[in-house]
Amino acid sequence: MSTISFEAPRGMRDFYPEDMIWRNRIFDAWRTAAEHFGFQNYDACVVESLELLQRKSGEEVSEQIYAFEDKSGRKLALRPEMTPTLARMVAAKQSRLPFPIKWYATAQCFRYERMTRGRKREHYQLNMDIVGSQEVLCEAEILGAAVYAMRTMGMPDAAWRIHVSSRALLGELLAASGIPEQQHAAVFIALDKRGKISDEEIAALLKAEGLNDEAIKKTFTLLAVNSIDEAAALAGAESPAIQNLKELFATAQQMGYADLLMFDIAVIRGLSYYTGIVFEAFDVQRKFRAIFGGGRYDSLLALVGGQSMPAVGMGFGDVVVGEVLREVLGETAPVARQGYAVGYMSVAERASAIALAARLRATGERVDLALLPQKPKHFFGKAGNSLAKFAIFLGPDDLASGVAQVKNLETREVTQVQL
Ligand code: HAM
Repeated sequence: MSTISFEAPRGMRDFYPEDMIWRNRIFDAWRTAAEHFGFQNYDACVVESLELLQRKSGEEVSEQIYAFEDKSGRKLALRPEMTPTLARMVAAKQSRLPFPIKWYATAQCFRYERMTRGRKREHYQLNMDIVGSQEVLCEAEILGAAVYAMRTMGMPDAAWRIHVSSRALLGELLAASGIPEQQHAAVFIALDKRGKISDEEIAALLKAEGLNDEAIKKTFTLLAVNSIDEAAALAGAESPAIQNLKELFATAQQMGYADLLMFDIAVIRGLSYYTGIVFEAFDVQRKFRAIFGGGRYDSLLALVGGQSMPAVGMGFGDVVVGEVLREVLGETAPVARQGYAVGYMSVAERASAIALAARLRATGERVDLALLPQKPKHFFGKAGNSLAKFAIFLGPDDLASGVAQVKNLETREVTQVQL
């Protein structure tokens, strides 16, 4: 038998305890933020039917699906994203749900990607979605919650920005340039590849979609628009897409995160189901791919067979934000010490140590009880490297006097307590 590698399969991750400190920092901030903004938790199985996930368009994700057949020949897949599953779950109970609903999940997703920094073949994503409302306040709330999550995990505002655009706006501008609506979806997917492939290659994709040279030139000119006012001059101030964008910026102002938002017509998104406002967050240095992304997708419910219903949401991955956080905060982000480490010199003190641990645990304290007797030096060395805040070591003298020394591992201060 050949030896089995100790490495996780390529692109997959193991999380050792030191990695979990970072991961929990991110997951805790996600949960705190989602609940702070009134989202309800849901979850689903990682395995999904391939049919739900497969789509016709030239989207990258449809080529990255991990698919397989089960023993009964069912065509299944590991989900590459949560949104189709959410749409399926909502459609299944559409007549009974109290819309609008605000749901969040932390979902593990799998994509067979070409690996780069910040891109893995498996990642976790916070998903926050609001289904059943057309109000721009939905977009503002979702972005507000994402901002809250970033601040909670310690990301300084100066380190990142949210780039906002609107597919509806780009659609209006394309239509005004004479590009028919049937071609817009393909144009969006081609333009989203900007930066990943050359402009010549994008032009070739557009040509293959039937755009003539004149239309291709106009399309690239539109990407040079760099403010809402400039866009308004082309689309007309009464354009619904312009009004929605203006409303989003005004609401962000009220909510205290307008400084993080910037209009960026180049944000298009790689998934074809978006229909309105779209957004992506990036580190200011643009070293990494998007930290999170999302937008409005008013047609997906109908597409999976449900009743047509407006929806908006976002996916916030753990990989990129982890990289940016480490870069901004340094590798050793401070972790709050908590609870006690309890040790003992010999088997004779063990029963007292167990009783002490039991009493502390009964009061709600975390206790890491030593499994074996230890020399004090060894015990305090290990406790110092643990996450405990206090260390108590029981020796024969402590039992005799009925008083134990409690060492604060942060301040090194020692106090005494009655056993
Ligand atoms: P997405 O832009 O494909 O959107 O992914 C959202 C986020 O997930 C990305 O910004 C990135 O942080 C993370 N991500 C995606 N792929 C990878 C990967 N291979 N490795 C590491 N991180 C990755 C969606 O998935 C949409 N379903 C989001 C959404 C929810 N839209 C509406 N509701």
